[in-house]
Amino acid sequence: MDDYRSGTRRRSGRRFSGPRESALRIVTTYAVVATAWIFLTDIVSRAVTIDPNRLTEVAVAKGVLFVAVTSSLLFVQIRNDFARLQEAAQRLRESEERYASVAEQGGVVTMETDAEGLFTFVSPVSRHVVGYRPEELVGTLHYYDLFPGEGRADLVAALRQGLQERGELKDYVDVARDKDGRSVWISASVQPIRDADGHLLGYRGSLMDVTQRIEDKELRDQALRATLEVLDGVVEARDPYTVGHEKRVSDLAIAIAGEMGRPPAEIESVRLAGLIHDVGKLTVPSELLTKPGVLSPAELTLVRSHAQASYDLVSKAQMPRAVTEIVHQHHERCDGSGYPRGLHHDEILPGAKVLMVADAVEAMASHRPYRASLGIDEALAQIEQGSGTLYDTEVVDACLRLFRDRGFALLED
Ligand SMILES: [Fe+2]
Ligand SMILES: [Fe+2]
Repeated sequence: MDDYRSGTRRRSGRRFSGPRESALRIVTTYAVVATAWIFLTDIVSRAVTIDPNRLTEVAVAKGVLFVAVTSSLLFVQIRNDFARLQEAAQRLRESEERYASVAEQGGVVTMETDAEGLFTFVSPVSRHVVGYRPEELVGTLHYYDLFPGEGRADLVAALRQGLQERGELKDYVDVARDKDGRSVWISASVQPIRDADGHLLGYRGSLMDVTQRIEDKELRDQALRATLEVLDGVVEARDPYTVGHEKRVSDLAIAIAGEMGRPPAEIESVRLAGLIHDVGKLTVPSELLTKPGVLSPAELTLVRSHAQASYDLVSKAQMPRAVTEIVHQHHERCDGSGYPRGLHHDEILPGAKVLMVADAVEAMASHRPYRASLGIDEALAQIEQGSGTLYDTEVVDACLRLFRDRGFALLED
């Protein structure tokens, strides 16, 4: 909206000035004209001889002329300023109408409330978004009354936190109830309105209907989850020794990332990456995956190609980039000895450093066709040995704490 308005102003080529500038210009004009008039009439009076009997008439004429000249100048100035103000007000009205129209088409309710959150203004689109006409909301309901149960307190707490941290609440999404009791997903953005001294007068903001967007995302996620489950089923059918491997790796990786206090978004990326990191084994001949003996160098290269194949597959599935990269890097090692790209510590994502440890621990603690399970104690001892070289020290420490101090255990099949 601001861009649009400033854009309109730039196109007009006329600068809007406020009442303060306008008053200052009028006073300055008056002062300059009056001063110039005093000096000029003084010079003229000295240059010409005035009949002493006509001094009064000359003084009156000077006064009348002064009033006429200044009045004319001030009239022109005030008229121009007034025209500018009218033009600015007209532009503002047009801009607001266009904004309101865009907002209504997008299912966005614009609103204002008092300091307690009681609606003082609501745009007409509220009828289509929450079923209430503006007059049913204004002076009757608070903005948070639209959110049922705990949602009401959550929104108030989120607003308080948003104001403290960023000076506003932006894109807060939760379920509201419309007038008929139906659920509507609403994205709320709220800014405070303050007076010149910073006292809170109320709030201004928007309530946007995002139900369709949420439902579309939920459907996409469901489809994605179903696809991944099918793919995992195929991988596990081809290599029965790895049944449940990805689920256990994902669970351990989540626990390690949580123990390290990593942000929720990163934990979610690690969770998803854990569930699908070996999907590329679909491209590896199953007899190699289940071969009991030692693999030849050529066979080892084929088995190792699954990391790149996993990345290629999940990239095609349009998974978030953070997830695809963690999948790509799950066999890298911090000293550069991993594959497929031989990345070093600083080039490896924090989430991948977590997943590589979870993957190694789970693999060593499980039976494989070519060796028996090492047992969890030996698996932990091995990653402890690799701490600072193969594996990230912080990740290894968190993993050891989980098993040794917090009683974490890998789930059975
Ligand atoms: Fe793998
Ligand atoms: Fe794995």
